[in-house]
Amino acid sequence: MTEIDQTRKGELEFPRARAQIEAELESFMSGGQAGGMAEVPALSFEKGETRFAFPVNTISKEQTFDALNLIKDNIENIRVHTFEPGYLVFQDLGPSLYSNRQNPMEGIKFKFVSISSSHRIEIVRKGNLTQDELQACINIFRLFHPREGEAVDPARQLAELGVSVYQRAQDDQDHDQDAAGSGADDGQSGSQEQAGDSGAAPTAGFTRKHGFAGYKKTKQEVLESVILPLKHPEVFTNVARMTRGVETGVLPRAVLFEGPPGVGKTSMARIIAVETGIPMVYVPVENILSKFYGESAQNLGRIFDVAAAYEKVILFLDEIDSLAGSREGGLFEATRRVLSVLLRKIDGFDTRDGILTIGATNRTQDLDGALLSRFDTIIRFPLPNASERAGIFRRYARHLETGDLEQLARGSEGLSGRAIQDVCEYAERRWARTIIAGGGDLNASPPPAEHYLEITGEKSKKLENLENDDF
Ligand SMILES: Nc1ncnc2c1ncn2[C@@H]1O[C@H](COP(=O)(O)OP(=O)(O)O)[C@@H](O)[C@H]1O
Ligand SMILES: [Mg+2]
Repeated sequence: MTEIDQTRKGELEFPRARAQIEAELESFMSGGQAGGMAEVPALSFEKGETRFAFPVNTISKEQTFDALNLIKDNIENIRVHTFEPGYLVFQDLGPSLYSNRQNPMEGIKFKFVSISSSHRIEIVRKGNLTQDELQACINIFRLFHPREGEAVDPARQLAELGVSVYQRAQDDQDHDQDAAGSGADDGQSGSQEQAGDSGAAPTAGFTRKHGFAGYKKTKQEVLESVILPLKHPEVFTNVARMTRGVETGVLPRAVLFEGPPGVGKTSMARIIAVETGIPMVYVPVENILSKFYGESAQNLGRIFDVAAAYEKVILFLDEIDSLAGSREGGLFEATRRVLSVLLRKIDGFDTRDGILTIGATNRTQDLDGALLSRFDTIIRFPLPNASERAGIFRRYARHLETGDLEQLARGSEGLSGRAIQDVCEYAERRWARTIIAGGGDLNASPPPAEHYLEITGEKSKKLENLENDDF
């Protein structure tokens, strides 16, 4: 029974409409959908109005255009009822523009609603749905919930664009929950991070499992300005509301990691992805520039668009130095185009919560001013100091005595974390070779300290020569 008396062609009683929708969307309702069905769509009939509503992950311009196309398959005269950012409504004008059979204000409405990072679609209709309208509902639901096989996997699309995605495995998340329950930072990290780490609190969140020695100040900055705001945005928002009466503007939008090569900028970005559980889209800017020569700008734009399919995402632009001007003559035309796309996209991303852009560079001073100004926080990664070098040596040669580590630290001034790691790995290889040459005793001792000292000396000398070459 309907509450309006004009019956329209093909009109369905609500229970029948519901049965049809349920049958059509059975695979979604029963949770058999691998694509991940967050919530069962709600079909209701209340106060003379039929309402079909469901949340979606994103509403892109392309999707609304596709949706309009689908609606047109079943409903002929559609008008734009509202066209505002985050609120787009299409409405049916009735079967004929000149017939008065339907009050144009009562036609079915398709609403695409985005409020900050939450998106939903609502379809409302005074009275009952017609068969055509019902079909349009199902089609739109399908459009936003592609079936397995036709599902668009952003990680795969990104891979085609030369970009990989780091995502914390479910196992790790469970593990993390346990760790949090038992009291945050593991006790061992204190002993591992003796390079000035006395209290546990400031660097809580960085544990031994990350394998990142020293850098107390850098870690603290990363924790305060990146990890905690991403993990607990509501706390930061609340504080801002109390202090300034604003809801937004406290969460980081774009953070720049600056420091010489090999000091852990890339590693830190991965740690952030692990710690926050937010997927990190890793964009090696230099590769994008060389791989897609001529189409780099377009592809970079695509990368941002695809990444936007994630509800929360960290976009890591590694080695943005490749976008820096050369000392003599500014930028190439292609590079300039890439830069302008990048600026535009970072700005666009800015408007959405749950998205963080991290850039890494070792030539901050040469970066384009407009690009630099997009970053609201700059975090420095200096070369490691002596006690940090000892800590890094300890990471890669845990059998060495403290006295030896200190001596290695003194002899490795100017070496980055990566250089120290290289030294240690080289020492292992050379030692293994010695063992094999001597008959291959598997129970032989680990490489002695002198071995490391010698190789450190060679490496430091190489570094000096390199520096001299530069001048
Ligand atoms: N403080 C550190 N502790 C342990 N390993 C480090 C440290 N700094 C750098 N490394 C190691 O050096 C390597 C290079 O680091 P990376 O993050 O690529 O540096 P960057 O991106 O700054 O060039 C990594 O394998 C990392 O494990
Ligand atoms: Mg790097």
